[in-house]
Amino acid sequence: MASMQSFAYLLTLLTFLLKVNAVTICNATQSCPEDLPCCSQGGQCGTGQYCLGSCNPSFSFNIDSCMPLPICKDSSTKFDNYSSKILNEYTFLGNVSAADWLYSGNIIDYADENSLILAMPKNSGGTVLTSTRAVWYGKITARMKASHLGGVITAFILFSGIQDEIDFEFVGADIEKVQTNYYWQGTLNYNHSTNITVDDVFDDYHTYELDWHEDYITWSVDGTIGRTLYKNETYNSTTDTYRFPQTPSQVHLSIWPGGNATNAPGTIAWAGGEINWDAPDISDPGYYYAIVNEVNITCYDPPIFAKKNGTKAYKYTNSDNFLEKSIMITDDEVMLGSDEATGNNITEGVTTSSSSSSSSASSSSSSSSSAKKTSSASTTGKTSSGSSGSSTSTSSSSSSSSSSTNSKNDAPVLSNINIVTVFSFIFGLLI
Ligand SMILES: *[C@@H]1O[C@H](CO)[C@@H](O)[C@H](O)[C@H]1NC(C)=O
Ligand SMILES: *[C@@H]1O[C@H](CO)[C@@H](O)[C@H](O)[C@H]1NC(C)=O
Ligand SMILES: *[C@@H]1O[C@H](CO)[C@@H](O)[C@H](O)[C@H]1NC(C)=O
Ligand SMILES: *[C@@H]1O[C@H](CO)[C@@H](O)[C@H](O)[C@H]1NC(C)=O
Ligand SMILES: *[C@@H]1O[C@H](CO)[C@@H](O)[C@H](O)[C@H]1NC(C)=O
Ligand SMILES: *[C@@H]1O[C@H](CO)[C@@H](O)[C@H](O)[C@H]1NC(C)=O
Ligand SMILES: *[C@@H]1O[C@H](CO)[C@@H](O)[C@H](O)[C@H]1NC(C)=O
Ligand SMILES: *[C@@H]1O[C@H](CO)[C@@H](O)[C@H](O)[C@H]1NC(C)=O
Ligand SMILES: *[C@@H]1O[C@H](CO)[C@@H](O)[C@H](O)[C@H]1NC(C)=O
Ligand SMILES: *[C@@H]1O[C@H](CO)[C@@H](O)[C@H](O)[C@H]1NC(C)=O
Ligand SMILES: *[C@@H]1O[C@H](CO)[C@@H](O)[C@H](O)[C@H]1NC(C)=O
Repeated sequence: MASMQSFAYLLTLLTFLLKVNAVTICNATQSCPEDLPCCSQGGQCGTGQYCLGSCNPSFSFNIDSCMPLPICKDSSTKFDNYSSKILNEYTFLGNVSAADWLYSGNIIDYADENSLILAMPKNSGGTVLTSTRAVWYGKITARMKASHLGGVITAFILFSGIQDEIDFEFVGADIEKVQTNYYWQGTLNYNHSTNITVDDVFDDYHTYELDWHEDYITWSVDGTIGRTLYKNETYNSTTDTYRFPQTPSQVHLSIWPGGNATNAPGTIAWAGGEINWDAPDISDPGYYYAIVNEVNITCYDPPIFAKKNGTKAYKYTNSDNFLEKSIMITDDEVMLGSDEATGNNITEGVTTSSSSSSSSASSSSSSSSSAKKTSSASTTGKTSSGSSGSSTSTSSSSSSSSSSTNSKNDAPVLSNINIVTVFSFIFGLLI
């Protein structure tokens, strides 16, 4: 068994090395090639996990490359002793029956407050908690505490593959405010941000709510609306489009180092300056942290005009635009057969032998998939405003978890560490 695993490990390592050597970038002018058809949130082409979640349908090989997103389902999650129910994003293949939430980075149960800690140890890329299902209009309510101190960003956002985004962002340098913002298809506009005053986002739990309707959005804190955006305010007459978030989106809660020294100067300034990796939090408890107590998701009906051919998944049907009107609700499969599979062929890489189980915790799937999505903030196409609290998940955070006592899913994390070490080594050689 052990030697089988080492063999599988070497094999995936080899695959990984080949892939690292051939990192393929995707962006607005360059779509992914057929053999690595899916463009990840980090702007890299790949298969498997690259094709799930925030896979960008516009920069991918074709309209079918990214997997359809699992449809919205009402839920209420108390993050009390909950970490074992959260699956690792790098090994998840889309089985939404298995989990409501995914993580990358470091999560730790916090029994004292019946909550979950999103931890950011020294030099890590932070932690992201992602809903496995998407919302296509709905109300998301989170009871949480944000982190503090300059350079540390906590975020609670809705994010779609085409990069529509609705944000609460907590800039640690100012714990008496939460910033609200929205983006349409990743288009940067620095004028869309507003602040809501909150007394102490760090020490106290508050309830933050994104209420996303077809024609307006409200941002509320503790039941009081702090901002309303009407769709009609976002009309662009040149293009005759509403630059309003309108595509199926996942919920992300995250902590990330907006002020990391390697980020763009504008991002660092926005984050309240360079992060201090020797701050007291780094020695005790050992990391910067945000704390999530409860998240409720209430789904709204899709728009009346929505095309329907099923009840299970959201799918883009028009590669000329990625607007609300191009979304169809279908019964299409949302799960990949392997981490070589893609929306173009969901059975690619599926071995027929009985030994290949669907378990996402097997050593081979965890180690090989850690070769996916190894993007960092600096490689995303979208770093300038730090708009996405979720664009910074890096595998370096997994490596930091080796020293954190409470890191979960020991086996997969362990193989990730090996891979990460190799990753840094290879990168050192390449650069
Ligand atoms: C897309 O990536 C290519 C290759 O890295 C680069 O030459 C091009 O400028 C990029 N385009 C955009 C819009 O960033
Ligand atoms: C926490 O959850 C685990 C796994 O579900 C369970 O075995 C354990 O008893 C729980 N601990 C507490 C204190 O509830
Ligand atoms: C999906 O997860 C559920 C719950 O863990 C499990 O019963 C089922 O077998 C899984 N399906 C596949 C295809 O792996
Ligand atoms: C943060 O910056 C340090 C250099 O100060 C760099 O080594 C590290 O990779 C960066 N981390 C992230 C997540 O960007
Ligand atoms: C979530 O829903 C439950 C049940 O309706 C409610 O008791 C709780 O206060 C809600 N939590 C938040 C954060 O809105
Ligand atoms: C932002 O607002 C400023 C001042 O109102 C205006 O000059 C600028 O054009 C706006 N920028 C964008 C991208 O809309
Ligand atoms: C929001 O507050 C920050 C300081 O925390 C400030 O830099 C920024 O200009 C404010 N934004 C607006 C739109 O007032
Ligand atoms: C947008 O719609 C709202 C609600 O229907 C209305 O009160 C407001 O006047 C409209 N604004 C514009 C710019 O048309
Ligand atoms: C409207 O869209 C055009 C074309 O993309 C863009 O150049 C212009 O800045 C947009 N106007 C506003 C107010 O955003
Ligand atoms: C509707 O779904 C069925 C089976 O799920 C499929 O065969 C058919 O092609 C779909 N129709 C459209 C228009 O996508
Ligand atoms: C999908 O991949 C499998 C395994 O490589 C292959 O047998 C099958 O023909 C492919 N299907 C399509 C439609 O290309």
